Amino acid sequence: MANLRSILSLGPVMPVIVIDDANDAVPLANALLEGGINTIEVTLRTSAALKAMSEIAQSCPDMVIGAGTVLDGEHARQALDAGAVFAVSPGATQSLIDECQDVGLDLLPGASTASEAMSLCAQGFDTLKFFPAVPAGGAPFLKSLASPLPQITFCPTGGITQQTASDFLALDNVMCVGGSWLATRQDIANKDFAKITERAIAASQL
Ligand code: 3PG
Repeated sequence: MANLRSILSLGPVMPVIVIDDANDAVPLANALLEGGINTIEVTLRTSAALKAMSEIAQSCPDMVIGAGTVLDGEHARQALDAGAVFAVSPGATQSLIDECQDVGLDLLPGASTASEAMSLCAQGFDTLKFFPAVPAGGAPFLKSLASPLPQITFCPTGGITQQTASDFLALDNVMCVGGSWLATRQDIANKDFAKITERAIAASQL
């Protein structure tokens, strides 16, 4: 999982994107790049997501693309074909783990308990998404895992804001945080790319 750690170390915040129109993908990616963010998680929650990833992959070589909400092997294959270099899942199933390995896509699996984190670590995953971060206990919960499970590094996601991200980033076992606040679905639909760049600048300085 060395590759995944190097991807997650590219910046303090990974934007989590829900996109409805693939025509917005390249302007969105450019807005983030201009703000100093060069990793993106495009969630497979809309019919435009795969096309959006392909457009970014073709036009924005500096953007490292992850596919989010990858729930099964078919998603993993489609994401790889669209140009994703890693997959993010809210949790983990054995079939998803096996199929990501089969297709050769690095997986950031989700965990929200010590037991889930231990099970994934036993399968070789030392870098996990902590989801849903705030409802599942937030920074105090992750801080409590650092001493017994120091080998595991987390990317907490879910309910984090520009104001609270630093609480997570201050922890030894957090590499970066994920969040939708930089580029909300509405911002993208409104083509408010200047606002997205402003938020990206602020996030990349965390
Ligand atoms: C999600 O699943 O949408 C991500 O975890 C982002 O969560 P957020 O919208 O609370 O930042």
